[in-house]
Amino acid sequence: MYTLGIETSCDETSCAILKKRKVLSNSTISSLKEHVPFGGVIPEIATRAHLKNIDKVVTFALAESGVPLSKVGLIAATNEPGLIGALLVGLNFAKGLSLSLSKPFIAVNHLQAHLFAPFLNDFKAIPFPFLGVVVSGGHTQIYRVNSFSDLKIIGTTRDDACGEVYDKIARNLNLGYPGGPVIDRLFDESLSESYAFKCGRIGLDLSFSGIKTAVVYKKMELQKQGFISKRTKIKLISSFQRSAIGALVDAVEESTERTGIKTLVFGGGVVANSYLRKQLKVRFQNLKIILPDLEYAGDNAAMVAGLGFYLYNEGS
Ligand code: KG4
Ligand code: ZN
Repeated sequence: MYTLGIETSCDETSCAILKKRKVLSNSTISSLKEHVPFGGVIPEIATRAHLKNIDKVVTFALAESGVPLSKVGLIAATNEPGLIGALLVGLNFAKGLSLSLSKPFIAVNHLQAHLFAPFLNDFKAIPFPFLGVVVSGGHTQIYRVNSFSDLKIIGTTRDDACGEVYDKIARNLNLGYPGGPVIDRLFDESLSESYAFKCGRIGLDLSFSGIKTAVVYKKMELQKQGFISKRTKIKLISSFQRSAIGALVDAVEESTERTGIKTLVFGGGVVANSYLRKQLKVRFQNLKIILPDLEYAGDNAAMVAGLGFYLYNEGS
């Protein structure tokens, strides 16, 4: 059976065609460039871009997969969380398709879909229970996942999301948008202890807004002493990343100790980060770490179609 999935919760208009969990096409048009001048996603611009691009990505995904619309057996779309106007475009397009084809529709939670991403193209049983760690531009959550219909948040950010802080710091330092990939690229471990920034932890919860302010204040202090060089910016972002990722990994470690669960599943745009991936390897040698392929770390429709198919057929 083929599943058609749609994702429009933020700035990616994406459609995927899957045969069970196998991805036949994952086609995306991003409105990212239109948001660059603002240093963040503008909901109105994202919504209008979805309206313009939704039928293009669906037509392209169908053509690329070679699957005729008549063979699609299930339609899945993200229904929450996300920008409301943006979500409505994908949801209503998907519901319209479902009605016109007389095929079932299933709504999918975006954060749960991020946790399904590592299981795409993989037909092994999903190793429940696991700790699910979503680190994206909008969320930073640690879940105990007993099944995809039984998840409990055990840790979360108390303020900004981890990816959001990458974006805000990069914007403040004029390094571009989105900030995550830029900081990932510029990071220099040998300069990462230049400044003693501290990222907040309260039990399994995290706080990223204090470290964001600390980086900005340090920049202002340095600015008073003169021009800020590229090397100084690298010192600032490297010290930030070391502390932010360190705190995240500490919180994850404590959640494994508290729950006794030794399988960790990661999802979300920040999971593409090379330093985070390296730290996970170094710190968690005795645990089972399951990461998505880089192409499925950020927002995409394949994870939505995959979880939709899984929930529709396995019911949990
Ligand atoms: O999951 P995602 O595509 O969208 C949301 O659901 O929010 O995540 C986007 C976030 C952005 O904040 C972006 O800066 C961050 O993921 N990101 C990264 C990297 N690639 C994307 N953060 C750190 N390192 C990266 N390599
Ligand atoms: Zn996302």
